Amino acid sequence: MDKAQNIAIEPLSKVLGARIVGLDLRLPVDDSSGDVLREAFSYYSVLCLSDQEIEADHQADFASLFGKVDRSPHRPTDNPNERQSTRGVMYVSNIKRDGKHIGVLPDGEMHFHSDGSHRENPYRATSLYAIKVPNSGGQTMFSNLAAAYDHLEEETKKRLEGLTANHVFNYNKTRREDIPKNAEAYAEHPLVRTHPITGRKSLYLSRLMTARINGLEEKESEELLLDLLDHCESPEFVYTHEWVPGDLIIWDNRSVNHARKDFPREQERLLRRFTVSEPGTSDDEV
Ligand code: OGA
Ligand code: MN
Repeated sequence: MDKAQNIAIEPLSKVLGARIVGLDLRLPVDDSSGDVLREAFSYYSVLCLSDQEIEADHQADFASLFGKVDRSPHRPTDNPNERQSTRGVMYVSNIKRDGKHIGVLPDGEMHFHSDGSHRENPYRATSLYAIKVPNSGGQTMFSNLAAAYDHLEEETKKRLEGLTANHVFNYNKTRREDIPKNAEAYAEHPLVRTHPITGRKSLYLSRLMTARINGLEEKESEELLLDLLDHCESPEFVYTHEWVPGDLIIWDNRSVNHARKDFPREQERLLRRFTVSEPGTSDDEV
């Protein structure tokens, strides 16, 4: 029997996201299940598989269904709880060992962003697996940038045609106020992009990473940016994920932004992370 027939797809919200039920990722995913996952991923932008008991290698295998798993060797790889040899793994965590954080993005709120938009080749997807989560807070929010585009006034859509913006990022900063407006390291991307699979147009900008719209005066750029950012973050476009240990999520950085809610510093949070790039791109871009 075709295994893909056992997979159920349950929408997580009205605006984006689906829960995939019926797969144990300790086992290989057959081709037809892979097709179902890829189609659901393009359509829903965020997939969640719960109750997974997986090692880093299983997560990397899962991520590889969606593109090229990044295997950059210079990332933090040390988690004391795990047999660890998987290149490219990162941990998002506030846990410290010998006074040093074992992962990145340790504490607090993070403004909405799209991973890698500061690179010429942004990450196609990001996958997080929840190992330890706080009792309260620390949710990850996702906003549907295609729906946000669809709901713009026609006049605004016209105004955005052909415009580009500069994106910057610093892994130690999590708020827009801390981002340098004229950073030396940045990438320029169109403000409106078309998804290669769905053909849907979406906005491409974020509170954390988009510094400046090119060709506009600074004040005009900032006003337009803030209007668009508020629009993208309005509740009708946002799904908020309450993590449960064992949840594996993968999201499409081409069609959603994500953000993190604050959480108590004294509570431990640990998620395992892999990014996925466009096939053919280099692993070395920082
Ligand atoms: C990330 C990220 C948010 C979170 O890993 O890219 O933004 O909820 N994480 O930790
Ligand atoms: Mn991120």
